[in-house]
Order: sequence, then structure tokens, then C-alpha cells
Amino acid sequence: MSKFSIGTDIEEIRRFRNKEKTEDFLKKIYTEKELEYCFSKDRPAQHLAVRFAAKEAIIKAFGSIDKKILFNQIEILNNEDRVPYVNIGTHLSENYKIKISLSHAKGYAMAVALIYKE
Ligand SMILES: CC(C)(COP(=O)(O)OP(=O)(O)OC[C@H]1O[C@@H](n2cnc3c(N)ncnc32)[C@H](O)[C@@H]1OP(=O)(O)O)[C@@H](O)C(=O)NCCC(=O)NCCS
Repeated sequence: MSKFSIGTDIEEIRRFRNKEKTEDFLKKIYTEKELEYCFSKDRPAQHLAVRFAAKEAIIKAFGSIDKKILFNQIEILNNEDRVPYVNIGTHLSENYKIKISLSHAKGYAMAVALIYKE
């Protein structure tokens, strides 16, 4: 493979409005820690949407190097400076590093993912 792979995705925030933390749809996509983060915010939908976009971006980036990863094998958290970082299953994390950048505005949330081997 080449040393880098990238992916991107954009989501409509309205798709994620009026969700309950316990809904099956959310539990299939997000980890418990992700749901805690999103639902601790005034507007959970934008944080849910941007994490969905980030997971799609990561799935695309891995797909382009013929690696499969599922939504719930990807966890997006934030450090103390709010910078987002990614936890993934050991089958991939041992070989690959991931960087993401997230953004949300009124109607849309978008993410870029970069995957690389050190
Ligand atoms: C960093 C900064 C530009 C983000 O602006 P923002 O308007 O909140 O960003 P957006 O709404 O487009 O995107 C929000 C996402 O940006 C990400 N983010 C927030 N702060 C970040 C940071 N410091 N670095 C990288 N990503 C950051 C988060 O993932 C957040 O989404 P989430 O809360 O759902 O995880 C803004 O907080 C800022 O100007 N801060 C002051 C300067 C600063 O702290 N700089 C960084 C350290 S030197």
C-alpha cells in the first residue's frame, strides 16, 4: 500500500435530531463513551452527526486499502483540549495510525480522516 490513505464524509445534522440515547440505532453505531459525550452537550445532534461522518470517512479510507472496519469498532473521543482522537480494534490499530478533523455548522457536519503507517 502507499503510505497514506484518506477519506471524507458529510452528513445532514437533522437526521440525528430527536434521538434518545438508548435507541438501538445509536447503540449499533456509537460506543457508550461517545454517547455520553454527545448527550452531555446542548445540541447532541451535531456531535452525533460529526462522529457518524468521521466513522464513514475512516471506513472509506480503510476501504481504499482493502481493510474492513465496522462503525462500532471505531470510537471517537476528545482530549482535554477538545481535539478529537480515534480508538480502533487492535487488529488494525497495531498497524495503522489515524488522524481526523471534524467540523459542524448549522445544517451539516463533516469529517476528514487520514490513515498512515509509521
Ligand atoms: C479550535 C477551534 C478553531 C474549533 O472551532 P469550532 O468552531 O468549535 O469548530 P467546529 O464547530 O468547526 O468543529 C467542532 C469540532 O472541532 C473539533 N475541535 C474542537 N477543538 C479543537 C482543537 N483545539 N483542535 C482540533 N479540533 C478541535 C472537535 O472535534 C469539535 O467537535 P466535537 O465537539 O463534536 O468533537 C476553536 O475552538 C478555537 O478557535 N479555539 C481557540 C484557539 C484554540 O483553542 N486553539 C487550539 C489550541 S492552540
